[in-house]
Amino acid sequence: VADSGEHPSLDTSAPAPERVQVKAGGGADYPVLVGPGVLDELPDLLRERALAHRYALVGDARVLELHGGRVHALVESTGRPCTLHPFPAGERSKNREHWARLTDELLATGMGRDGCVVALGGGVTGDLAGFVAATYMRGIPVAQLPTSLVAMIDSAVGGKTGVDVPQGKNLVGAFHPPRFVLADPELALTLPREERAQGLAEALKHGAIQDAEYLASLVASRDALLEGDPTVTAGAVLTSVQVKARVVTLDEREGGIRQILNFGHTLGHAVEHLSGYRIPHGSAVALGMVLEARLGERLEVTEPGTAVALSRAVAAFGLPAELAAVAPLLPPDPGALLLEAMQLDKKVRGGEVRVVLLAQVGEVARTGAGGWSHPVPGDRILEVLG
Ligand SMILES: NC(=O)c1ccc[n+]([C@@H]2O[C@H](COP(=O)([O-])OP(=O)(O)OC[C@H]3O[C@@H](n4cnc5c(N)ncnc54)[C@H](O)[C@@H]3O)[C@@H](O)[C@H]2O)c1
Ligand SMILES: [Zn+2]
Repeated sequence: VADSGEHPSLDTSAPAPERVQVKAGGGADYPVLVGPGVLDELPDLLRERALAHRYALVGDARVLELHGGRVHALVESTGRPCTLHPFPAGERSKNREHWARLTDELLATGMGRDGCVVALGGGVTGDLAGFVAATYMRGIPVAQLPTSLVAMIDSAVGGKTGVDVPQGKNLVGAFHPPRFVLADPELALTLPREERAQGLAEALKHGAIQDAEYLASLVASRDALLEGDPTVTAGAVLTSVQVKARVVTLDEREGGIRQILNFGHTLGHAVEHLSGYRIPHGSAVALGMVLEARLGERLEVTEPGTAVALSRAVAAFGLPAELAAVAPLLPPDPGALLLEAMQLDKKVRGGEVRVVLLAQVGEVARTGAGGWSHPVPGDRILEVLG
């Protein structure tokens, strides 16, 4: 494992599965198990936390081809039948048409309220299969088995499910916490390297908002993380899940502190949107973090040097740290268009752009009124987009 010196890299010697408990509304707390090989716990967890008359294994065709056979056998080792429900891989499948088709397939199997959905895949699968489970007969259990780093580090925890519509991403959905999450980094060994960097962008965000040491250790472990080393990856997934679990436990539905998870996203979403989604989410968020740190420095909210520190971390993972790096995927002079996109974002209240700003690496700056996001005038935003 490469270690570039002053910062300790992530622990490489702790293969035992770790367990994080996440609080959810109505006492629906759930465990997240993280570790290489933790998938083997699936039958026991299903029996303990999601015993059903029948199971529906939902995943994209690519992931089901790679890992569906093994997971199917593990599910059926509970003694209950399991049907397979593939859909075409990619964000384009996260829509109402696939939600309807999958729902119809479950109805055709005769699944009742005593059924359970097993979601095996990346964030698209977790969101789509989770939304099928959330709505099927007013809600049946779902077990989340994330296979991409985006899903392990971010989307499988927190209970948000949903689909995209022509008007925008994630505009139709529901909160539906899983019965449990099993994050086994051995499943992500088949994930392409560029996809790993996309998920690690959210891990860098977790370090930036809550834990400077974590950010440094991610950079120190970069090579192992990009190669997918299961033990090192497990360490990162565990720390990220702990950060996200802590935040969503305090604020399940995003009225308060959960907003800090949007660091890098106000600008990031605008960049993603303006590129026609050709710039992937993790890349857009990485760039958004650097630009929002620069904005915070200009507003004298963020400690000078923070943006430079973040841009080094982001660049270490081959993620864009400057607008120029993604310019070919954006219209010329994108500043004003980006601002407009930010003003249209669903998180904007009353036309005012609100941005989560750092105090320094590892800490978010509160507003005078104790809020978690700062109202920022458009002309100040334009300054960092020039
Ligand atoms: N619910 C939330 O809180 C939340 C948070 C963040 C992101 N998301 C959503 O997550 C989605 C993005 O997730 P994603 O990047 O995982 O997308 P994805 O599910 O499409 O996976 C990306 C690609 O990797 C492939 N893949 C996944 N696991 C693999 C594996 N182990 N081996 C080989 N290939 C594998 C998939 O087939 C797909 O082609 C977006 O729709 C986003 O809105 C949701
Ligand atoms: Zn994100």
